[in-house]
Amino acid sequence: MAAQLLDGKVLSAQVEEELKIRVDALLAGGHRPGLCVILVGDDPASHLYVGNKEKACDRLGIASTTIRLPADTTQEDLEAEVRKANADPAIHGLLVQLPLPRHLDGAKALSLILPEKDADGIHDTNAGKLMRGEFGAVACTPKGALYMLKSAGIAIGGKNAVVVGRSNIVGKPMAMLLLHENATVTLCHSRTADLAWHTRNADILVAAIGQPRFIKADMVKEGAVVIDVGMNRVDGKFCGDVDFDAVRQKASYITPVPGGVGRMTIAMLMSNTVEAAERTFAKG
Ligand code: GUN
Repeated sequence: MAAQLLDGKVLSAQVEEELKIRVDALLAGGHRPGLCVILVGDDPASHLYVGNKEKACDRLGIASTTIRLPADTTQEDLEAEVRKANADPAIHGLLVQLPLPRHLDGAKALSLILPEKDADGIHDTNAGKLMRGEFGAVACTPKGALYMLKSAGIAIGGKNAVVVGRSNIVGKPMAMLLLHENATVTLCHSRTADLAWHTRNADILVAAIGQPRFIKADMVKEGAVVIDVGMNRVDGKFCGDVDFDAVRQKASYITPVPGGVGRMTIAMLMSNTVEAAERTFAKG
């Protein structure tokens, strides 16, 4: 039987509905949450993502600022913009859209973001907290993927969870979140020997590779839960890192692309921003 869909459109709408109530409560108290995105250069995918973030802010009543900088922006100018946004009391969530042009030191720029304004949840401090299970802001895509698993009532404790991809923004924090949910976690990557042996052992398989339809049906265990984080453009159409049509016949649950994890990433960015604003205004 074909897998059940974990529908990012439905679940992200649910998250937004809950967030809207919290934003309305802040607004009623005269407090408006604000998100600032710093976008450098003209990567078309980044422009698309940033547009989607702005639209989500509009839907929720969050003030949205996008600082657009030219591709030849210097490190100094980028850092000056981060410092300015850090100091702006109307901004509660701040992120630097990735990827940055090659001449810029992204890690250094990200480390300057105040941890309490880190909307992406990837600042050194928040990444460190996640490692210890203390949970500051949590990286949006893994947070969204976990929300999908939990809202479908999928058991995680004691399961074999295999994450393919070791990026700081998805793979590593995803592995940590699953570990804190008591899964037995394997983190695979481009140098993993016999990758299919690992993926076939997965009760929960997260694909964050960045290669279209990389995970084939023969790499997936019967009844596995498959979370596809990929967003690849092939012949003008989006597809994930999982060979959806074939894998769907084998999995118990699967996320579609588009309409899956991508939607949740934006919803969790909104969630991190609202949480940051609530913390700020609670302090008075
Ligand atoms: N580029 C692609 N996805 C993301 C994201 O979630 N955050 C940032 N900062 N850049 C991205």
